[in-house]
Amino acid sequence: MHFYGTASRNGQGHLTIGGVDVVDLAREFGTPLYVMDEELIRQNCRAYVAAFRDHYPDFDVAYASKAFLCTAMAALVAQEGLSLDVVSGGEIATALQAGFPMDRTYFHGNNKTAEEIRLALEAGVGRFVVDSLHELELLNRLAGERGTTARALLRVTPGVEAHTHEYISTGQLDSKFGIPIEGGQALDAARAALQADHVELLGFHCHIGSQIFDLTGYRVAADRMLAFAAAVREETGFTPSELSLGGGLGVRYVEGDRPLPPADLVACLAEAVRSGVAERALPLPKLIVEPGRSIVAEAGTTLYTVGTIKEIPGVRTYLSVDGGMGDNIRPALYHARYECAVANKLDSERTRIVTVVGRYCESGDVLLTDAAVAADVAPGDLLAVFATGAYNYSMASRYNRFPTPAVVFVRDGRADLVVRRETFADMAACDVLPPRFRPRTEA
Ligand code: LLP
Repeated sequence: MHFYGTASRNGQGHLTIGGVDVVDLAREFGTPLYVMDEELIRQNCRAYVAAFRDHYPDFDVAYASKAFLCTAMAALVAQEGLSLDVVSGGEIATALQAGFPMDRTYFHGNNKTAEEIRLALEAGVGRFVVDSLHELELLNRLAGERGTTARALLRVTPGVEAHTHEYISTGQLDSKFGIPIEGGQALDAARAALQADHVELLGFHCHIGSQIFDLTGYRVAADRMLAFAAAVREETGFTPSELSLGGGLGVRYVEGDRPLPPADLVACLAEAVRSGVAERALPLPKLIVEPGRSIVAEAGTTLYTVGTIKEIPGVRTYLSVDGGMGDNIRPALYHARYECAVANKLDSERTRIVTVVGRYCESGDVLLTDAAVAADVAPGDLLAVFATGAYNYSMASRYNRFPTPAVVFVRDGRADLVVRRETFADMAACDVLPPRFRPRTEA
């Protein structure tokens, strides 16, 4: 089995993460439980920053908080000196709660509401990543009403879409995000942004995809972005001082996934931008990246308690755990694959083949298909599913009203609760019972 980050096996054959026995974690915090390897998150943050220091003078690494956010995570990101990509009023509120330096935030989203834009202006968000002409007008008006100027990047689509091992280069990109370069809409939007009294355009942004293992798409995107920058300069005289090339670096979920280290991505982008600007006599812009998954995915492990083990002779064995699609929608939504282990029986031979299912009322609630687990697996054991740190907690749902699990950060032999487990009362807290629905009491 693959040990991520600080994960290891102790003398009792138990999985440890951050020097903590996961059996103790399950006892103390219950299951399902999201366990985050704090040291690995910090190492991943530092890997991006160190790579930029080696390769490029002026940069910013903005953690894409949609991958995993809670107040402690925002605080950790601030401590590591990274910036934060936020996409909603909720993510802004969490950053505020953490005391995050708001001038280091980038506000994304293809349909920001007026309310969210007002909140962002009030909070002092650093950059608005403007996604449409409509948003530009709205932002200009709302910033004007506040008597301020909003600093902005324009999100454009370079016609590059990257999927894991290959990229697709399309003339006209069909996307709800960004403004297409192809056809001139992005140029028109840049012109409009430069004319807006209460918006200060600083540069351009693109994001080409997620879980990417091949850097070619980034190279092509960087080149198209700089060609676009040159075209804007030609038409308007404006030269961008900032260029954001988004996130997307892949991680290891299963055997055979071969992620590239952040240093390779940064070196590739730095080189592509340097040569792209030299070719067009543009000044070297501040280079921004927005990694999400590659910061947190491998740092996360979900712990479950094994329940029913149902053997259907000649068909398969269903091993049920006390969580499922509510805490990890990715297998059902994307056919995402994971690896697992019986965390309290790492010394046992892994010869039993099971399909790991959750307890949600849905046949598609399957976490792993045909996984090899400890031969002596039994109800009450702990099942660890690995690399669940990105887009698991953040995409959790309350289907069937199962409470959202707790999150703990582990490091150097200690565990700290950073999100407590939801209670039934939490779930009912927003419910309102109008008087006519209240049970009648006998007079
Ligand atoms: N920047 C922008 C503008 C993005 O849209 C995203 C992700 C990122 C950065 C971060 O990308 P990352 O480094 O995490 O790949 N729910 C899906 C992933 C959706 C990604 C959306 N955008 C999943 O579970 O695979």
